[in-house]
Amino acid sequence: MLIKKRTGIEIPSSEITPQHIYLSRRKFMRGAAAVAGSSLLAACAFGGEEETAVPATAPTSAPSANTPAGSAETAVPGATTDELGDPLNSFEQIVNYNNYYEFTVEKEDVAGLAKGYVTSPWQVEVSGMVNNPQTFDIDDLRAFEQEERIYRLRCVEAWSMVIPWTGFPLSKLLAAVEPTAAAKYVRFETVYDPDNMPGFNKYPWYQWPYIEGLRLDEAMNDLTLMATGLYGQELLPQSGAPIRLVVPWKYGFKSIKSIVKIELTDVMPTSLWMDAAPNEYGFYANVNPEVDHPRWSQATERRIGEFGRRETLMFNGYGEQVASLYDGMDLRANF
Ligand code: MTE
Repeated sequence: MLIKKRTGIEIPSSEITPQHIYLSRRKFMRGAAAVAGSSLLAACAFGGEEETAVPATAPTSAPSANTPAGSAETAVPGATTDELGDPLNSFEQIVNYNNYYEFTVEKEDVAGLAKGYVTSPWQVEVSGMVNNPQTFDIDDLRAFEQEERIYRLRCVEAWSMVIPWTGFPLSKLLAAVEPTAAAKYVRFETVYDPDNMPGFNKYPWYQWPYIEGLRLDEAMNDLTLMATGLYGQELLPQSGAPIRLVVPWKYGFKSIKSIVKIELTDVMPTSLWMDAAPNEYGFYANVNPEVDHPRWSQATERRIGEFGRRETLMFNGYGEQVASLYDGMDLRANF
């Protein structure tokens, strides 16, 4: 799938923490394990990206002060990288190229359509097979100790970004509700709001609301994040405000946005994408360069802002932390 380059930035600069300020603040805070009490803070269905033979270090025309062109020289002074040395994508890139089908399937139009979407007040119900079901106000969730996590996000469509999230491990939320011994899966649900999100009426063939799921041990893994912000400020609507999931070793569609409900269950949840195309989108959706999507290769990806392609890494490069979750499993059958 070919993707048009964005020509402008739709978020007024007055609303954005300037990236150089964010980056120098991060440099200042480097070494701190957590940002405590921070107040800052298809899929996929349309097809993969076309492959090109251009090397990843080719120049780019993307609108970024921190162009991740595969070379440290191109990053702004003080810019940080993820643990593999990959530069962060710019704030502008992250909030202007989105998948959020409740608004539109056009990635570059999500920001405009989501602008002003009201996410306050907001509550998240956590229920099902738990000893202590609770409904959390968004402020209760922001009161969990917030950490910064720089993660690569690899969309099943074969593009990727590096994003500095703010949030807290889902395991801490689950500990608060105390899953029972019978709970085996976690089911997540996005807000259903057809009056304010045009995608519901425009794409009635999807089984709304957007649903995703994880196995309980995947949900408890320390990498699994409930994100409330990025680049040091609260999430904008297009990024899944006010709270979303981020599961960095899985294709991006697992990272469900604008969550209103979390349910512990003993039944494997059927996600919106499993329902829409079960032969294309499985429950696990672990990033795997060896298992192609039926309609495109998953061996390589285009990092947004780069011209060429990078090799896709098994489990998106997080194998050390998560490969043992799948010991003995056939990853081709459980795609
Ligand atoms: N969550 C909801 N509710 N609706 C969506 O359309 N798209 C998913 C995921 N979460 C989606 C969603 C897909 S396909 C991807 S790749 C990521 O969000 C994209 O996240 P981003 O827009 O913040 O980059």
